[in-house]
Amino acid sequence: MQTDEQVPGSKTGLFKPSGTFCVLVGVTGSVAALKLPQLVSQLLQLPQVDVRVVTTEHAQHFYDPSEVSVKIYSDNDEWELWTQRSDPVLHIELRRWADLFVIAPLDANTLGKVASGICDNLLTCVVRAWDTSRPLLFCPAMNTAMWKHPITAQQVSRLKEFGYVEVPCISKKLVCGDEGKGAMAEVSTIVSVVEH
Ligand SMILES: Cc1cc2nc3c(=O)[nH]c(=O)nc-3n(C[C@H](O)[C@H](O)[C@H](O)COP(=O)(O)O)c2cc1C
Repeated sequence: MQTDEQVPGSKTGLFKPSGTFCVLVGVTGSVAALKLPQLVSQLLQLPQVDVRVVTTEHAQHFYDPSEVSVKIYSDNDEWELWTQRSDPVLHIELRRWADLFVIAPLDANTLGKVASGICDNLLTCVVRAWDTSRPLLFCPAMNTAMWKHPITAQQVSRLKEFGYVEVPCISKKLVCGDEGKGAMAEVSTIVSVVEH
């Protein structure tokens, strides 16, 4: 009989059936994280696609996990999983599992961290360990004033230099009341970019 350690993925829940395209959704602390349940459910409708979510702590304020039908990994999971040498390192297992990483929404804080290589939570560790030959999509979402700050364009360019693909933000009336560019792309747009 196989023990937990001998069954790949038994500790992490990261099984990879052959023929399945594995999409990892990263979610950060933008109000657009409200759309996580919608995004996950639309991705799951794509043929032979499996989905997992990696969340930052602040993103958790914006969605109800009971509305998300796949496993959501957070910083606690990373540290609870590893107690001894033989245990899996979650951010490495997630980057092994995923064929594509889509960070939606990518807020200003995590954009800055990714642009400069900071990896102080589960999500940014997955990005830092990412195999850059695999697709990474990022969907910025922030207040218009944050978007217009000159550092934003610099950081977005940096991510593109790494080979990551921007799903550009759009203009609309934002939740904070401001109107202008900075809203996350529509979920349908993100799903169609993943599909292609
Ligand atoms: C109600 C609320 C809405 C927010 N919306 C955004 C947003 O849309 N974009 C953004 O860049 N930051 C937004 N923030 C700020 C981020 O949550 C904050 O920078 C946080 O530190 C991000 O952490 P994380 O990148 O680890 O998720 C918002 C904060 C609050 C309280």
